[in-house]
Amino acid sequence: MAATEQVASRPSPAQDLADPPLALGEQRHSAGLMRVNHTGEVCAQALYLGQALVARDPQLKRFLEDAAAEERDHLAWCAARLEELDSRTSILNPAWFAGSILIAITAAAISDAVSLGFVEETEHQVCAHLDGHLNELSEHDVRSRAIVAVMRADEAEHANNAKLNGAQALPRSIKRLMSLQARVMTTLAYWL
Ligand SMILES: [Fe+2]
Ligand SMILES: [Fe+2]
Repeated sequence: MAATEQVASRPSPAQDLADPPLALGEQRHSAGLMRVNHTGEVCAQALYLGQALVARDPQLKRFLEDAAAEERDHLAWCAARLEELDSRTSILNPAWFAGSILIAITAAAISDAVSLGFVEETEHQVCAHLDGHLNELSEHDVRSRAIVAVMRADEAEHANNAKLNGAQALPRSIKRLMSLQARVMTTLAYWL
C-alpha cells in the first residue's frame, strides 16, 4: 500500500456523528480544507518515515514510529471525509511526499536534535494551521470538525514529545522558510 493511502488503527472521531446536509458553498470549502489537511498528512508520513530511517537513537526511533502511526490515522480519516464530501485528494501529493522525505532525511542527517527540532516546529505550525481550520469550517460540518479537533490534540502532543526528547530550537530563518513552504502547499492543495 502506498504511504499516501493508509488504513486507520483508531476509529474516525466522526464515526458516531450525524452528517447534516451542507450548503454547496460549505461543502466545497470543507472539501478544500480537508484536502489541505490530507496533503499535510501525506507530508507527515514522509517526515516521520524519513526521520525514522536515519534516526540513531532507539528511543527516538520509537517516538517517531509511534507518531507516524497516529499520522496514518489522520491520513485515513481525512481521505474518508473527502470521499463523504464527494471530493478527492490532491493530485500533487506524490510531489509533496518526495519533497518532504528529502527534507526529513536532510534534517535527520545533521543530528537527532535538529531532526526533533524540525518535528517540533512543524507540529507547532500544523497546530496553528488547524486552529485556523476550526475557525473556518462550518459549524454544520460536525464530522470534519471532530476529525480536525482530534488531529490538533495529537499534533500538540507530537510537538511536546519532540521537545521532551531533546529537540533543538531551529533558527528563525529556517522557521520562516518552513512557514513559507507550508503556505505554498496549503494554497495549492486547496484547489488542486
Ligand atoms: Fe497529523
Ligand atoms: Fe503530528
